[in-house]
Amino acid sequence: MEQKRIINVSNRLPVKLCRVADELILQQSEGGLATGLSSVFNNYCSQWIGWPGAVVVPEHQNSTTMELNERNLTPVYLSEEEIANFYEGFSNDTLWPLFHYFPSYSNYNEQYWRSYVAVNKKFADAVVNVARPGDMVWVHDYQLMLVPSMVRAMAPDITIGYFQHIPFPDYEIFRALPWKAELLKGLLGADIIGFQTKADVRHFLSTVRTVLSMTPNGNKELVMGGRKIVIEAFPISIDHKKFHDLAKEKATDEHVQKVKAMGDTKIMLSIDRLDYSKGILQRLQAYELFLKKHPEWRQKVTLVHLIVPSRDNVPNYKKLKEEMNRQISQINGTYSVFGWQPIQHFYQSFEPHMLAALYKIADVAIVTPLRDGMNLVSKEYVACNVDQNGVLLLSEAAGAAAELTDAILLNPNDTKDFANKIYEGLTMPAKEKKERMQRMQQVVAEADIFQWAERFNERMTETDNEKKRPQQT
Ligand code: G6P
Repeated sequence: MEQKRIINVSNRLPVKLCRVADELILQQSEGGLATGLSSVFNNYCSQWIGWPGAVVVPEHQNSTTMELNERNLTPVYLSEEEIANFYEGFSNDTLWPLFHYFPSYSNYNEQYWRSYVAVNKKFADAVVNVARPGDMVWVHDYQLMLVPSMVRAMAPDITIGYFQHIPFPDYEIFRALPWKAELLKGLLGADIIGFQTKADVRHFLSTVRTVLSMTPNGNKELVMGGRKIVIEAFPISIDHKKFHDLAKEKATDEHVQKVKAMGDTKIMLSIDRLDYSKGILQRLQAYELFLKKHPEWRQKVTLVHLIVPSRDNVPNYKKLKEEMNRQISQINGTYSVFGWQPIQHFYQSFEPHMLAALYKIADVAIVTPLRDGMNLVSKEYVACNVDQNGVLLLSEAAGAAAELTDAILLNPNDTKDFANKIYEGLTMPAKEKKERMQRMQQVVAEADIFQWAERFNERMTETDNEKKRPQQT
């Protein structure tokens, strides 16, 4: 199919500006979206518009823009006030908790909303500035739900895709939003709206039906002012080959040796951004119960607990960090002996070879969010477990559970069952581990991020061609 120019738009760019000494330097961004999309950017997209992750004073913006432009990146600068109200506020203190089924954590604040509208407009203006005739636009995620209709208003003929990386909640949750109709109409500016799972698609369609009285046609499309809008599930994935190859590199094995030197125990691994949706406290409770019920496993297993700092100015994240630290210290305080502690806790980011080493040697990976759009850590673990001797414990509330059915699936709130499944994972026979891991690797290798991007882009291109075909009279 003919390759068209695509403008990628997401809140964060794949690089972020960090202050080191007195200088701003560029580093790789963390988080599912930036990491995942970086792999496909060069193949599919010619420009990426987004926020560079820090406040840049006006006198430095020109030089920063030039540096980013050299990498085909276009920055949208946010002020302190916009970071507080648009990013930490409406995006992460209103939409994020609601869409992850934490309605009581959501704050409905008019100032947040006004900032969300204004910043979405900044992004839409940036798109229209960069777009050339014939380009297609691909908008990502909940921070930018109004961008599709704002771009459409300025450039009516442009083909726009929107993909939501986080869940779309049930109507009964979504209805709590004072701005629900505005957000839906914002999205409906797109020609294609993609979600992670079929359940998200179902929730979105029933919400649109209830709030806007719109029903899909026989082809499951919505029609608005004569324009068709496709709503479909596109489960995102990872660059399987990149992770698989990384796990086999010498530098990875050097880290493997370092981790092994920690002691002769089985290794359980968890890796998450600090986020209440990730089920961090529930996992610690289950591990504690497991240690209590299985004294024979004490000193024979270590939980390597890696938490990547995130959104630490949002109050609910601060509270979670305190509670997590309290629980870790209680478990370590109770069960440690000289030479062994049950949890090795890290509150930092690790470089790729170290991550691959942990994935490679972990006997059990525990990926148990309370709710997650997809969860790419689970797929990274599968890709890096090249010796096929690991077990994945996966929450049934992660989008990935629909594909990784050979994981041990569990409900993270069911502490007793969770503790039993930790035991089951640690004692699974080698043959069964290998068979399950092989099947999961096949799933991830076949449906990788390139296949995901290809499918989404094909749908956008089909729509674009259809719109440009002369209408038969
Ligand atoms: C989730 C969202 C992404 C976001 C990531 C990191 O995965 O779906 O849109 O990139 O979290 O969040 P942050 O707030 O650090 O950009």
